[in-house]
Amino acid sequence: MKKILTGIKPTWNGMHMWNYFGALKPLFDMDDWKNDVTVFLPDFHSLTSIHNWEVLRNNRERLLKEFFALMPEKSDITVFEQSKINNLNNIVWILNSVTPYSMMLRAHSFKDSQNKNSEINMAVFNYPILMTADIISYDFDIVPVWKDQKQHLEFARDIARNFNKTYNCDIFKLPEAKINEDLLLIPWTDWRKMSKSYDNFIWIFDSEKIMKKKIMTIVTGSETLEEPKNPDNCNIFALIKLFASESKQEEIKQKYLAWNYGYWHAKLELLEIVLDYFKEAREKYNSFENNMDYIYEKLEEWNAKMNKICDEKYEKILRITGLKQKTRG
Ligand code: TRP
Repeated sequence: MKKILTGIKPTWNGMHMWNYFGALKPLFDMDDWKNDVTVFLPDFHSLTSIHNWEVLRNNRERLLKEFFALMPEKSDITVFEQSKINNLNNIVWILNSVTPYSMMLRAHSFKDSQNKNSEINMAVFNYPILMTADIISYDFDIVPVWKDQKQHLEFARDIARNFNKTYNCDIFKLPEAKINEDLLLIPWTDWRKMSKSYDNFIWIFDSEKIMKKKIMTIVTGSETLEEPKNPDNCNIFALIKLFASESKQEEIKQKYLAWNYGYWHAKLELLEIVLDYFKEAREKYNSFENNMDYIYEKLEEWNAKMNKICDEKYEKILRITGLKQKTRG
């Protein structure tokens, strides 16, 4: 059984198709008998850039509602909040003492922000050490990440190794990154990947009206209604493939190849398929709009579970470092 960890930072303002197909769905698919999947909100990490309580609180709530709405009913996933783990930052402090300054100077995340701003805060600089604690305090084996996080995982291994070597112990497991090489290119209203700056992506929890509006702006060929169309060279069909069953895809393909099926029809069909695909999640999301009690109850239970694991690790660290006396008897 492999212990898998993913963190989803509450720095955005909504879950879109790309987050879903690129990060969440692969995670849900991993949640089987071979794996023990945990997801957490690295909300301390958000403090590097968000200093407005309303923004952070709204982002956290929105992300929680979205995640709980999308999580499959029968899943075994544990969800917890970084900021509710009592000893996490004690462990960070101890890890600081075995982390070379020169290593942190090499961090891409820090170098990038240094290029952008005249002054950066210490949270940006210490970011990789907190991220290391997130992973090694609970003995996670595998961390699925995008390529941009690869270096952070290398740091986590190095810091864990440094600690083990310094104290001649093997208390920290060295985590492995599972790098997602092929950034899923999800075509949206044009062939560029969905992104905020192009304003061409769709939020999973957008109203039907807005979803429709976005879908109607998808760029297509200019064949007339009567002309047959090539589904393999069509943005709409590329999206349909993400959502529709094989048989549904085949059915639509035939319509493309026949005549009297316009892009407008395909768009309406896509809208229907997307709404159907996320029907349950959208209903759940709406119910959470009125009442998040269920979410907070589950979080309390899972935060306690993760606190217990972290406390045990911390207890061992205290003895190994000499911060606590030996137990008698
Ligand atoms: N740095 C990650 C990101 O920007 C978020 C993160 C923080 C994380 N701690 C983690 C991811 C631990 C995986 C494991 O997306």
